Amino acid sequence: HDLGVVAVGFSGGQTKAGVDAAPMALIESGLIQQLEEDLEFNVTFDGQVHAYTDIMPKEDPDYRNMKRPRSVSAVTWQVSKQVYEHAKSGKFVLTLGGDHSIAIGTISGTAKAIRERTGKDLAVIWVDAHADINTPETSESGNIHGMPVAFLTGLATETHEDMFGWIQKDQMITTKKLVYIGLRDIDKGEKKILRDHGIKAFSMHDIDRHGIGKVMDMVLGWIGSDTPIHLSFDVDALDPMWAPSTGTPVRGGLTLREGDFIAECVAETGSLIALDLVEVNPSLDIQGASDTVRAGCSIVRCALGDTLL
Ligand code: ARG
Ligand code: MN
Ligand code: MN
Ligand code: MN
Repeated sequence: HDLGVVAVGFSGGQTKAGVDAAPMALIESGLIQQLEEDLEFNVTFDGQVHAYTDIMPKEDPDYRNMKRPRSVSAVTWQVSKQVYEHAKSGKFVLTLGGDHSIAIGTISGTAKAIRERTGKDLAVIWVDAHADINTPETSESGNIHGMPVAFLTGLATETHEDMFGWIQKDQMITTKKLVYIGLRDIDKGEKKILRDHGIKAFSMHDIDRHGIGKVMDMVLGWIGSDTPIHLSFDVDALDPMWAPSTGTPVRGGLTLREGDFIAECVAETGSLIALDLVEVNPSLDIQGASDTVRAGCSIVRCALGDTLL
């Protein structure tokens, strides 16, 4: 099986330094080597953690309440092209972030490639403590890592090409094939958006009630077989007990096994075409950084079909 890896060392979608160091930490812990040697993937990787310094705008004042809009737009546009190139040639695409704003790039890239290859709409499973569906206007923080889903679904739009105006219809996703797992910290404006658009979401409450096994049956039942799936996994979906080194930790999250189980169930469908692993920040809670990196690596291996037996 062919795998394309994109390492995105970018932190501009939020304000804490260090999340840009995650790809190197994940790679240094042996992740890519394991995918090649243990899981026998044929890996295409340019060997670098991209910092995108050459395309970074010199000045980037706030716009529509967004922080660093031109930087995030430029980087995600570039990421979109990188991911598209891998996906269009039929490779599974693994993107190592970086903060979650980079999903604007990854998902726009796979959505377009999948449409061209199969004529189908992409399904997205978003595993996160947060919904990341604020529009610039509903956001309380102005951090774009809280907005990627709004731009990807067209709920937020911009005409300026250098501030996400580059996102075309064929790069967008439908709210009908978007499913959340693990939610527990949603902003007021986001709740209204989720309700108004009837977006399918399984919160921690749902996992408590039904158990993760039943929840995954419902998630995959909602998407249906025969639909390509992009899994966007924010490590803060896990409880801080397992993944403390992340910018916006929220207590009461998934266990390590629930996180791996989600990835395993999606892998079993045979429909998974791309995975993002984001928001690992090794410079926060330094004591817990190696646990957080290990948890991230484990999720990636599970999503790529590593089985227990
Ligand atoms: N909802 C908050 C915001 O919009 C937090 C978002 C956290 N996002 C993340 N990818 N960790 O600022
Ligand atoms: Mn999150
Ligand atoms: Mn302008
Ligand atoms: Mn997120």
